[in-house]
Amino acid sequence: MRYLDVDTAVKISKIGLGTWQFGSREWGYGDAYSKGEAGAIVRRALELGVSLFDTAEIYGFGRSERILGQAMDGHREEVFLATKLFPLAPFPPVVQQRAVASANRLGVSRLDLYQVHQPNPLVPDTVIMRGMRALQRIGLVGEVGVSNYPLARWKAAEEALGSRVLSNQVRFSLAAPGPADDLVPYAERTGHVVIAYSPLAQGFLSGRYDGTNRPRNRVRSFNALFLPVNTERAAGLLRVLREVADAHDATFAQIALAWLIKSPAVVAIPGASSVAQLESNVSAAEIDLTDDEWEALRDAAVRFRPAAGPSTLPRLLRARYRSSVVPPG
Ligand SMILES: NC(=O)c1ccc[n+]([C@@H]2O[C@H](COP(=O)([O-])OP(=O)(O)OC[C@H]3O[C@@H](n4cnc5c(N)ncnc54)[C@H](OP(=O)(O)O)[C@@H]3O)[C@@H](O)[C@H]2O)c1
Repeated sequence: MRYLDVDTAVKISKIGLGTWQFGSREWGYGDAYSKGEAGAIVRRALELGVSLFDTAEIYGFGRSERILGQAMDGHREEVFLATKLFPLAPFPPVVQQRAVASANRLGVSRLDLYQVHQPNPLVPDTVIMRGMRALQRIGLVGEVGVSNYPLARWKAAEEALGSRVLSNQVRFSLAAPGPADDLVPYAERTGHVVIAYSPLAQGFLSGRYDGTNRPRNRVRSFNALFLPVNTERAAGLLRVLREVADAHDATFAQIALAWLIKSPAVVAIPGASSVAQLESNVSAAEIDLTDDEWEALRDAAVRFRPAAGPSTLPRLLRARYRSSVVPPG
């Protein structure tokens, strides 16, 4: 495993583990996963040197935090534990109360990274950060982070906190390369961190899905990326992915992760539906892409223009209806 060169209480692994899948109905992995595989994934991740674990109070309405907390029991000091505040009425007393509730579900007395899950359109960060500052003062929170913040608001949040807002967790992958233009150069220049979520574009970049094999769970049946029109449009990107993967004797998913973490300021937090996926994702930390490979992948990513937005809704509904009447294979 490789780690970020940023001074934090526990070193942050370049490949972390996202745990939205744990206990959440929308991923549809079921009880056997929540009660068995999820814990096994966490324990194997720890064995392989993963330190960054990401959850949120909203994942499975607290179930993800509970499952993660139980699974990492006995390993607290090896973990850089990140959770998120869903910013509903994020006034300072509410922020403080919700951090305590997250810590209780996780069974810990310190949240290493407490992130604002998304910008609140009404409540400014000057208000939210008052709550965060109080939590840092009493030692319940180590680092403060944000998520889904544009660069200007990330900087403003830091000014409001009066000390570093370590990280910004954003959608970032070869299917959504935008952060490479602004957030990543900023983080590299200033010692901040970009945490790439959905780094495999929810499995799209594994090359496993196409027009005839669509994922069936709720999250992805409403993700326009998996529409046949987009799997067709992604042909160029997947071709470059295949070339680079062949050169490294690696999988598409591993190359997609290696592309993200080539920057010294980026870590990725793929979710996993099995221990085998976790192991494969962790191995991506050892892959060194050449500059030419990185550029070729970036060019292909920028050329990929997926159909998105309201115009895809009728197609999504049709695809969802079809998958609900076809019995699972
Ligand atoms: N801050 C935010 O707003 C936000 C939003 C979304 C996610 N997140 C965080 O980011 C984490 C990761 O994002 P995500 O779960 O949306 O997407 P992701 O990590 O891109 O995709 C995860 C899915 O990809 C498939 N997969 C994983 N490893 C694979 C491999 N080696 N080979 C083939 N397929 C593989 C699995 O699904 P199948 O096996 O079922 O195909 C897995 O459930 C979440 O768990 C969460 O912690 C944060």
